[in-house]
Amino acid sequence: MSMPEVKLEKLEFIGAGKHGEVYKLDDKRCIKIYKTWRYLRRELAALQRGASAPFFPRVYQVGRDYIIREYVPGIPLNRYLRSNPLTEAMARQMVEIVETMRRLRFRRADTRLSHIIIDPKGKLWVIDPVNTMKPSPPFPRKLLKSLMRRGMDGEFLEYVKQRYPEVYTRWEKHLASLASA
Ligand SMILES: Nc1ncnc2c1ncn2[C@@H]1O[C@H](COP(=O)(O)OP(=O)(O)O)[C@@H](O)[C@H]1O
Ligand SMILES: [Mg+2]
Repeated sequence: MSMPEVKLEKLEFIGAGKHGEVYKLDDKRCIKIYKTWRYLRRELAALQRGASAPFFPRVYQVGRDYIIREYVPGIPLNRYLRSNPLTEAMARQMVEIVETMRRLRFRRADTRLSHIIIDPKGKLWVIDPVNTMKPSPPFPRKLLKSLMRRGMDGEFLEYVKQRYPEVYTRWEKHLASLASA
């Protein structure tokens, strides 16, 4: 298909960011229209790399300036955590997200909280992986920074230390750099 079969002005606008605009198509699908082909290419590469991971939206269709993908109902975690506690189930999924991305050789195995959506079942999704192939330090700096902003980094790291000691050991030596920058 060369053009989306629907007129954009009839669709529900979901959100916009640096790279494009997102509209809801139906309960299962949304369309992201990109500002530049570069952004589309980068995000498509990330979604394809992550296709086997359960937390990236599925890609349904790709056009010249758009990707039709799985619509994720829910709330971004940065907003959700303003009025809800960080649970072990969330912390576990965050570690799994970072570790799965690392295993799949994403250069940036990391995401900020605003790009994680929590769905009504409590499942976490990563929605905006445009920049995940950019060089990055070997620990989830953006995730930890956004937890820090909410004063939740301590409990998260305590959980990682208890449940994922090997991961914690890898991250530990970089944590000092977080406080300063
Ligand atoms: N698959 C999706 N399901 C539900 N909402 C989405 C989805 N993808 C994006 N959104 C919404 O659209 C907004 C903008 O999308 P995003 O991918 O972050 O664009 P940008 O790359 O321009 O920042 C997001 O903050 C989110 O609210
Ligand atoms: Mg975004």
